[in-house]
Amino acid sequence: MVQDGEDLSHGKSIWGLKSLRSLGIFMVLLVLCLCYYILPYEFSDTWTSTVGLFIKDDNVSLTTPSAVTTQEPWKPPEPYCVAYPGKYHFIVNEPEKCQKENPFVVLLIPVAPSNKAARDAVRSTWGTEKLVGDKVVTLLFLLGVSTSNDSQKLHEDLLKESEQYHDIVQSDFWDSYYNLTIKTMIMMEWLTAYCQNTSYVMKVDSDIFLNVKNLVNLLQSAPKQNYMSGLVARGAVVLRNPNSKWYLPKTTFAPDFYPPYALGLGYVFSIDLSQKLVEAAQLVKPVYIEDVYLGLCMQHLRIGLTNPPNGGLFNVFPVDYNRCRYSKLVATTTRSLNDQVVFWKELQKPGPYC
Ligand SMILES: *[C@@H]1O[C@H](CO)[C@@H](O)[C@H](O)[C@H]1NC(C)=O
Ligand SMILES: *[C@@H]1O[C@H](CO)[C@@H](O)[C@H](O)[C@H]1NC(C)=O
Ligand SMILES: *[C@@H]1O[C@H](CO)[C@@H](O)[C@H](O)[C@H]1NC(C)=O
Ligand SMILES: *[C@@H]1O[C@H](CO)[C@@H](O)[C@H](O)[C@H]1NC(C)=O
Repeated sequence: MVQDGEDLSHGKSIWGLKSLRSLGIFMVLLVLCLCYYILPYEFSDTWTSTVGLFIKDDNVSLTTPSAVTTQEPWKPPEPYCVAYPGKYHFIVNEPEKCQKENPFVVLLIPVAPSNKAARDAVRSTWGTEKLVGDKVVTLLFLLGVSTSNDSQKLHEDLLKESEQYHDIVQSDFWDSYYNLTIKTMIMMEWLTAYCQNTSYVMKVDSDIFLNVKNLVNLLQSAPKQNYMSGLVARGAVVLRNPNSKWYLPKTTFAPDFYPPYALGLGYVFSIDLSQKLVEAAQLVKPVYIEDVYLGLCMQHLRIGLTNPPNGGLFNVFPVDYNRCRYSKLVATTTRSLNDQVVFWKELQKPGPYC
């Protein structure tokens, strides 16, 4: 949570769509409820199985009269879950990137298709650091498809951008805030398919300042398997206020606390986990909060998260620029793309850090 610097402007159209769809489903249900009472009882099983198409995996049984007669407006049963696993396809891909570069660590950066500015900021700063000692660092941006109107033009521009930089992987799910879990799992699928020879992966948001040298140093002494680290939240409280950006209702996730998870601003893991997490995700109900979801999958796999060797390496709140401090951290959120660029450039200047 706290980290998903995605383009929220898509939100409006999706909510519009959602409420329209909810209304549609509500009408259908209304008709079905009426039928339930009018038609002979033996038909009701058929109806409920039809309704069951909408109410996936929910404990609310429509055969119980109390559920049918409820006066509450109907709401989608699992609004905070996402469409994963799903049959998604890569429409822009770099299938040979890892084979060619043979990286030690792959940086994967989820970004909205329209957010070229963020990609360019990364490309001009920490994205240029392709080699630390003898360790190769490979970088890829991860995109879904745009939900906006101008998607045709956007797609043409993306193809050009991809041709120029060869650093874009795009899958055909809707790129939206509530679909970030899909994005993360597509990342795991991509790694499993195309990058099993790397040692480590870092998922890092595009608005992050990343100290690549420190990242590589951290990973050089990290476990080679079953390793996931970052800013690890332990005992985080599930937010039950519907107005919260990270609200999850009890009906979707009953416990009061999340299992340990690494905050999505930037987390690292050993490559073996990509496949294990893809497999776990076939069984763990997907919630829309992507980092929490990986925590749930890790819990399912019974693999613990590793704290970084010291507390200041990963920062969820922007750290004020200080040359000494920035020379020691791995990742921090920044207040703006401009800060990200300026801080990185300043740190490259010769001279003592502290
Ligand atoms: C219904 O809820 C119970 C207890 O909370 C749980 O064990 C069971 O798996 C749930 N069933 C479904 C279909 O989700
Ligand atoms: C995998 O990595 C090893 C060690 O870095 C390297 O020798 C080998 O060529 C790589 N294989 C492929 C298929 O990239
Ligand atoms: C979508 O495109 C049409 C025609 O180009 C335009 O009139 C409309 O305002 C656009 N809608 C949005 C939400 O951008
Ligand atoms: C998530 O992506 C799927 C697949 O493209 C799509 O059907 C769904 O509407 C999207 N949901 C949101 C909230 O964008």
